[in-house]
Amino acid sequence: MMKKKLQDAFNAQINEELYSAYLYAAMRAAFESMNLKGYANWMRLQVEEELFHARKFMEFIFERGGEVELKAIKQPQAQWDSPLAMFEAAYRHECHISECINKLSTLAMKEDDHAARIFLEWFVTEQVEEEANADGMVQNLKLMKDAPGGLFMLDREAGQRVISPLVLASITGAAAGA
Ligand code: FEO
Repeated sequence: MMKKKLQDAFNAQINEELYSAYLYAAMRAAFESMNLKGYANWMRLQVEEELFHARKFMEFIFERGGEVELKAIKQPQAQWDSPLAMFEAAYRHECHISECINKLSTLAMKEDDHAARIFLEWFVTEQVEEEANADGMVQNLKLMKDAPGGLFMLDREAGQRVISPLVLASITGAAAGA
């Protein structure tokens, strides 16, 4: 059984993950309206990643006999000045999520909840990848800023992103609770 304080913090993190999905859905919509279909695809898959993260937290609370409490999701920004501004915002957001996960880990240690601490290790590692992915998009856009056709090329590359096997398994139920 989870202590109430930790359960509340996990529920707050579910809200953070669902907001992340909402934010990336807004970015997808912005890319669709710019007709940058590759970046729109990248964001579409990022939405699935975030829903997967939210599900993971929910499954953990259920397994521990706790209660999932869903709160209102705030409205995300809808427009950005450029693709670069969008990915910079995505990177800043991932850094914020990393801080949230680190604080959760600290709380789990303080509350002496080792199951929660071990569960959170997956997210600590995942955030390294999440930050690196968003930062990689920022760096590519900066590099190609002045290259003719650069944005078109990067958009095509982003269109090749495919769903991760873990996320796919979670959606299809092939690995419940994965
Ligand atoms: Fe759920 Fe992108 O962190």
